[in-house]
Amino acid sequence: MTQYGYALLGLTAVVAMLVAIMTFAVLKFAAGARDAKRHLAGGADSAILSAALQEAVAKLKAQEQAMSARAVASEQLSSQIVSSLTAGLLVVDGTGRIEILNPAGQQMLAVPAAVAGGDYRAVLASVPPLVEAITECLGTRRAILRRSLQIPGADRTTHLGASVSPLGGREGHGAICLFSDLTNVVELEEQLRLKETLARLGELTAGIAHEFRNGLATIHGYSRLIVPDALPGQYRPYVEGIRQETEALGKVVTNFLNFARPERLQFSRVELEPLLRRLGEDLQHELPAGATLDLRGRFADVDGDEVLLRQVFGNLVRNAAEACESAGVRPAIVIGGDVDARRRACRISVEDNGPGIPESERARVFQPFVTTRSRGTGLGLAIVQKIVVMHNGRVGIGTSPAGGASVEVTLPLAAA
Ligand SMILES: Nc1ncnc2c1ncn2[C@@H]1O[C@H](COP(=O)(O)OP(=O)(O)OP(=O)(O)O)[C@@H](O)[C@H]1O
Ligand SMILES: [Mg+2]
Repeated sequence: MTQYGYALLGLTAVVAMLVAIMTFAVLKFAAGARDAKRHLAGGADSAILSAALQEAVAKLKAQEQAMSARAVASEQLSSQIVSSLTAGLLVVDGTGRIEILNPAGQQMLAVPAAVAGGDYRAVLASVPPLVEAITECLGTRRAILRRSLQIPGADRTTHLGASVSPLGGREGHGAICLFSDLTNVVELEEQLRLKETLARLGELTAGIAHEFRNGLATIHGYSRLIVPDALPGQYRPYVEGIRQETEALGKVVTNFLNFARPERLQFSRVELEPLLRRLGEDLQHELPAGATLDLRGRFADVDGDEVLLRQVFGNLVRNAAEACESAGVRPAIVIGGDVDARRRACRISVEDNGPGIPESERARVFQPFVTTRSRGTGLGLAIVQKIVVMHNGRVGIGTSPAGGASVEVTLPLAAA
């Protein structure tokens, strides 16, 4: 090989090395570019993914907020329904704890507001018939429909209509009870019944009484024709006896006819306080010496017949004075007044310090001709009841603070 040949070989080797280096560099660059490209494409995917995730989270949050707002609204609605119910609602769980007692129920049962969580037997201790109904439903798991419950109170008996149904729940089985106050309805029915009874009694007996009075007038007339001085001395008292008895019987029959006849009422607004004050002054001279008659409390206006209402309280005051006198005590009579704005009624009690009226006699003394007085006709309280019922009121008998009788008249307040 020539020198020239060696040079060419060396040059060729250098060129081949340069080509190899260039090829390696190109390949390296291409691989780097591919890597970079792949890297760039992966970053875009994760950005899209995180945006989608954020959107989903935001949507879920909005849904959660809407759902909790809806839950709050429906809770508010159900508590509004429960508290604005005019009927009483009581829910008891399986262990006997009160879960719900709405405001209407609290008022009807006269229990304090915070009773939730208390045992129904303890909370409703003053309402035994309701406790019995709930206990029965919890025990038998059978519904009780529209049961009428009577709850005796200090001044009047409350009538409740109650339905109790079994209820499934977390703490075993409970009961749900819906009840309403039927006292006014029951009292109206009672008034109606009394009005009908009085009207029938009047119709039945007025005719007989009328004939009776005519016969008596004839006997009395003949007795008047007899001149006592023309008779032998021992017969004169008999004529006087016949005259007195026919006169007394004539009065009884006239009183009864007055009682039985259908009354024509002259309704107007009556202020009870001045009426009772005037009555007290007028009766002072009739009452035994040393007797007292006081007016206490609050009175209201009623729609009524002034003359008849005066007769009612006149009869009651006379009865009180007579009862005290017959028991040998000096009459201390109190006319007490109380206004019940919720029931729109005025309660007037005539209280005395006499012997009182035994409970067993309290219903009977309102019947005509029931009397314990030798010269009584037994019509005073019957007339009182008739007039009070005609005024859509009611009358009852209790015991006065002094241990005597307390006759209580309740009249509806005048229309506003
Ligand atoms: N305040 C009272 N205290 C005790 N007993 C009473 C009282 N008021 C009424 N009574 C009883 O009730 C009965 C009936 O009373 P009522 O007013 O109807 O008739 P009376 O007073 O006997 O006769 P009259 O027709 O003359 O009023 C009385 O006889 C009496 O026994
Ligand atoms: Mg009387």
